[in-house]
Amino acid sequence: MTHKLTPLIAGNWKMNGLVNELSQIETLCDALKNKTTPECDVLICPPVTLLSQMSAMCSEVLTGAQDCHVATSGAHTGDISAQMLADAGASYIIVGHSERRADHHETDGLVNAKAKSALDAGLVPIICVGETHAERLGALAITVVEQQLNGSVPDLEGRQVIVIAYEPVWAIGTGLVPDENDIKTMHAAIREWLINRFGDNGIAVRILYGGSLKPSNAKEILTIPHVNGGLIGGASLKADDLLGIINTIGA
Ligand code: 13P
Repeated sequence: MTHKLTPLIAGNWKMNGLVNELSQIETLCDALKNKTTPECDVLICPPVTLLSQMSAMCSEVLTGAQDCHVATSGAHTGDISAQMLADAGASYIIVGHSERRADHHETDGLVNAKAKSALDAGLVPIICVGETHAERLGALAITVVEQQLNGSVPDLEGRQVIVIAYEPVWAIGTGLVPDENDIKTMHAAIREWLINRFGDNGIAVRILYGGSLKPSNAKEILTIPHVNGGLIGGASLKADDLLGIINTIGA
């Protein structure tokens, strides 16, 4: 069953962006305020240095963080808690991005704890999963993603909301994308997993696709069943590219 969910178009700026790049958000705010764009939620996850400034720019662009520590506060030099990120204006936190899993050896258990700390701070975790190229070639993609979901998705209480982002590692920043059928099969498997785990509430969880999403392939990808938006790296850095993606919705 496909359920109509408001698409979430989320930009992950990764370790990019200085204060002068906030002009891109001004352009985005102007376009979204003029309501010339289709109905969707727009989120940008900038480096934490830009978070409060960006959060104050307009209510049409939601802001989020790219990671958090599991604790609320304490002796953790260089780390930032979910509560602090909420205080700086974040409403979402990306957790378990494959770059953090690889660069910082983050395990499913740690990602789970981070997602839980985001929820405890009243934020929505965007929990990332995705297979490597070797796993895809070995026909292990679905098994690997289900294992990541089993380990990384926390239990939910009350009205807590999560988002899942399927990002095949080999498609990130490479210009490569899985074929339409593979995305369709994976998103259907993730939906089934969510329904098994959360019952009817699993129908309302947005599942994003991420990996080399750009204006030229967005329409094809964003209309696949159970693709409820995108998590976009490179093409989220320029307002025109992101608007190009947003404008394919419902076009
Ligand atoms: P690209 O869109 O640059 O491939 O990055 C995807 C991504 O990792 C978003 O989190």
